Amino acid sequence: METGLQLVRTRAALSALAKGWHDLGRTIALVPTMGALHEGHLALVHLARERAAHVVVSIFVNPTQFGPGEDLQSYPRDLQGDVDKLRAAGVDAVYAPPVEEIYPAGFATTVHVEGPATAGLEDAFRPGHFDGVATVVAKLFAQSACDIAVFGQKDYQQLQVIRRMSADLDLPVHVIGAPTIRETDGLAMSSRNAYLSPQERKTAPALHRALQAAASAIRAGRSPQRACAEAIKGLKMTGFATDYLQARQAASLAPLTADYQGPIRLLAAARLGRTRLIDNIAV
Ligand code: PAJ
Repeated sequence: METGLQLVRTRAALSALAKGWHDLGRTIALVPTMGALHEGHLALVHLARERAAHVVVSIFVNPTQFGPGEDLQSYPRDLQGDVDKLRAAGVDAVYAPPVEEIYPAGFATTVHVEGPATAGLEDAFRPGHFDGVATVVAKLFAQSACDIAVFGQKDYQQLQVIRRMSADLDLPVHVIGAPTIRETDGLAMSSRNAYLSPQERKTAPALHRALQAAASAIRAGRSPQRACAEAIKGLKMTGFATDYLQARQAASLAPLTADYQGPIRLLAAARLGRTRLIDNIAV
């Protein structure tokens, strides 16, 4: 088993590690997470290991991306369990900073994102969320001096927001999107799945099935609007309250237009009891 994992708590310690690696001419991949790691996160780590000489995983439950009514306090935390999984996965360093290391007293700057961040999907239900994500990710890129960074397609809007930000701010980081890892019944793995009751857990894969059905209907020639409306109706019958289920232009997340010929992404968020699930697939 690998034993070389270093747990670092400060920017200074992380920078020193990064400088040592870069001085040897080696590349660094960053996998940003909020911890409570599952197979979805570990798949990002495996991809990162294939693409870079050294892998850093950050674990930071970022307060600025949570809204007032959201689960910041109750978000699952298990640093020791996470470190054990990452050691076994061959990660070089875990960066788990305290809040003051990321947001010291006097912190007064925010990265404000638009474009895919204001597409009217997650942003419509989580005001300010993507500014919080973009701000912490920009800081993590800078602090880790990473050459590449791996994000999951599970959070597809987030991935497109980070790609856009990286390009717009000329950040020297190559952003890679990794496929969504699912349970055998199709439910996308998520730290928040732990909130589902046993009954809700049985219903939950209906979200992925609804997306698949809508995608095949669109491929068969059904209008995207109609396919999405049917999927929302079906989800309602299984007990979901759908926040949105929409077909969008895959890169910009802009609404489809009559002349659009490019790839289409179906994106959804739906609530089952008190748990909010998100998922997306390519058409
Ligand atoms: P978190 O929800 O912990 O997710 C960390 C990374 O794991 C994200 O890139 C997310 O898309 C990916 N991920 C989660 N579930 C996945 C699955 N089932 N399959 C593949 N990838 C999956 O996303 C965040 O944290 C935060 O917003 C963060 C980017 C760390 C900024 O705070």
